Amino acid sequence: MKMATLIAYASKYGCTKKCAGILWGKMEDRTDLLNVKKEKKVDLSQYDKVIISGSIYAGKIQKEVTRFCEKHLDELLQKKVGLFICCMENGDEAENELKHSFPELLLEHAIISEFFGGELTVSEMNLFDKFVIKMIARDGDKIPAEDTSTVSNEKISTFANRMNTA
Ligand SMILES: Cc1cc2nc3c(=O)[nH]c(=O)nc-3n(C[C@H](O)[C@H](O)[C@H](O)COP(=O)(O)O)c2cc1C
Repeated sequence: MKMATLIAYASKYGCTKKCAGILWGKMEDRTDLLNVKKEKKVDLSQYDKVIISGSIYAGKIQKEVTRFCEKHLDELLQKKVGLFICCMENGDEAENELKHSFPELLLEHAIISEFFGGELTVSEMNLFDKFVIKMIARDGDKIPAEDTSTVSNEKISTFANRMNTA
């Protein structure tokens, strides 16, 4: 049995990329990173574990992540799969976002699915995103308008342990 892991990710401002990198450092088998926004082709046959991740914008994960899951669904269902998202919501709302981010079959099949928290780097955002964030922040104070991080290193460690022992 080949023991290798792929971490596929999509990231707009780098939070998911950073989390994928931290996870990469905690994986015990040979592990490759794949940016699904840049690389469209991948040979999954060399991996026995695949981690898929992305971040949430207006309730949705990147379309490239959805395409990756749909395109490789049959093959993914034969492998050990982990799923994570980066988002600023938490609790039930984040669970809900997680549930809507991946195909149902894949969620049921996954060894672990988790939200890691998120990062808002308002200083790096494009004008449209800055505007959206400021509007959301004003509307109920859920998403702050300043730079902030809620990423849980503990959740990343637990996720890595679960994948390493699978
Ligand atoms: C314009 C915009 C819209 C967002 N919408 C949501 C949302 O609907 N739900 C949520 O939980 N987080 C939302 N977020 C927070 C992002 O998911 C969070 O910043 C994440 O860490 C971004 O990861 P990335 O840098 O890898 O893309 C939004 C962020 C921006 C900038």
